[in-house]
Amino acid sequence: MTADIIDGKAFAAKVREQVAGHVTRLKEDHGITPGLAVVLVGEDPASQVYVRSKGKQTVEVGMNSYEHKLEVDTSEADLLALIDQLNNDPAVHGILVQLPLPGHLNEDLVINSIDPAKDVDGFHISNVGLLGTGQKSMVPCTPLGCLMMLRDHHGSISGMNAVVIGRSNIVGKPMAQLLLNDSASVTIAHSRTKDLPDVVRRADIVVAAVGRPEMVPGDWIKEGATVIDVGINRIDAPEKGEGKTRLVGDVHFESAAKVAGAITPVPGGVGPMTIACLLANTVTACCRANG
Ligand code: GUN
Repeated sequence: MTADIIDGKAFAAKVREQVAGHVTRLKEDHGITPGLAVVLVGEDPASQVYVRSKGKQTVEVGMNSYEHKLEVDTSEADLLALIDQLNNDPAVHGILVQLPLPGHLNEDLVINSIDPAKDVDGFHISNVGLLGTGQKSMVPCTPLGCLMMLRDHHGSISGMNAVVIGRSNIVGKPMAQLLLNDSASVTIAHSRTKDLPDVVRRADIVVAAVGRPEMVPGDWIKEGATVIDVGINRIDAPEKGEGKTRLVGDVHFESAAKVAGAITPVPGGVGPMTIACLLANTVTACCRANG
């Protein structure tokens, strides 16, 4: 069997097109331009790349982008003051504080100081609770993108066996909750899980979100299963030349694609969907704020 490739890049382009359509209507019919504020503390190179990309795509769909770049030694009080200002700014409909934060800042405190209605990351404790009880909430972008691809591929995932490998607050836990809300039967696996290969072999849906390059080999995958690879890992690629690197997922793509029914590639799978869902969440927040 050779798996269908789930093209996240093309799917994300469609989502952005829909978002741009909503933005146009909000502007023309209501005179409102959705605005997304992104806060970056420090100069982590990967975070800088993400933040630049978020800002660029925000503008491309017609929304306002407000970037706040703060020094690495910014005090918690100053960061909280900025969030308070953004919470009270009617032009700002979504607020994202790029993680990880420098060690002297309390991540939970900072995230929970964001107005839950503007929490486009869906990380605020009240959004986590709303999602956990199946109520309307802001949904974390990466798991939302994964769910959209699964729904698109399967129609319904009701009754399917799903395994989520990884239990992070950003991906693993909300992913499991979303799958459960769609009536999948869900197992969360992690580094202490016994007989992980057998747990994965029972799954119709595998979501890998551990951050370990090519950790899941093809012989763990059930024939015909759908594999969603959240990992983005940079590894050495001496075959491309000295000092060269390449991106790989948490799944060993070549071997998994021989048994899976469908699989997301890395790059070009889950990655592009994350920012597209951030833009969609910002429009959602804007619509809810304006009735
Ligand atoms: N760092 C890595 N992923 C994310 C994300 O989805 N949101 C935020 N705020 N920071 C991140």
